Amino acid sequence: MPVLHPVLKKIIFTQEQIDSKAKELGSLITQYYFTKKDSDPIIILGLLKGCVPFMANLMKYIDFPVKTEYMVVASYGMNSVSSGSPQILLDINQNIVNSNVLIVEDIIDSGTTLEFIIKHLKVRGAKEVKIVSLLDKKTKRLRAITADWVGFDCPDGFIVGFGLDYAQRFRNLPYIAEVDIEKFDNYDWKQDIENYCK
Ligand code: IMP
Ligand code: MG
Repeated sequence: MPVLHPVLKKIIFTQEQIDSKAKELGSLITQYYFTKKDSDPIIILGLLKGCVPFMANLMKYIDFPVKTEYMVVASYGMNSVSSGSPQILLDINQNIVNSNVLIVEDIIDSGTTLEFIIKHLKVRGAKEVKIVSLLDKKTKRLRAITADWVGFDCPDGFIVGFGLDYAQRFRNLPYIAEVDIEKFDNYDWKQDIENYCK
């Protein structure tokens, strides 16, 4: 077991669990697009920054022609509570009229971000928009958004790792863990290097 950082409570999903889930999802997604018999490539749309490790892992297991795109849509600032009004900071820069888009998300919480992005993609002419999310906090949903493929249902606490951050930290963890927000907020980050040199 890896040594946990002092502001982390516990590991929720291990690297091995995430990798085998990515494999399973990749094969289900491949099967879906193969059965559709639509020869257009899938536009895999990663939502930065959180999608990076999951998208890299998942794509290896999608055996179908793809193109990749990225969007940055901000909904959280330095807080753990959604601001409720997403903003596009980086948009797709190719024509997506009549295309099959697969959104890759790290976690769905209220559903506000995805509802906003789906509307945006439809306005830009996408033929079909599907969603794959590594994690789903179903109990926190405020919008009628359902992912087509979900890795894991996850607890309500704030979680980090494998792309997910709190105040931009911990995206590099190879596993997913729960943060103790109070400890995080009072932590002496200047001393932090000691935790990496144990
Ligand atoms: P929603 O618009 O409320 O569904 O928020 C979705 C976005 O919030 C995700 O793409 C994440 O970036 C972020 N988010 C929600 N819950 C968590 C969490 O527990 N840890 C880290 N990021 C989260
Ligand atoms: Mg995100």
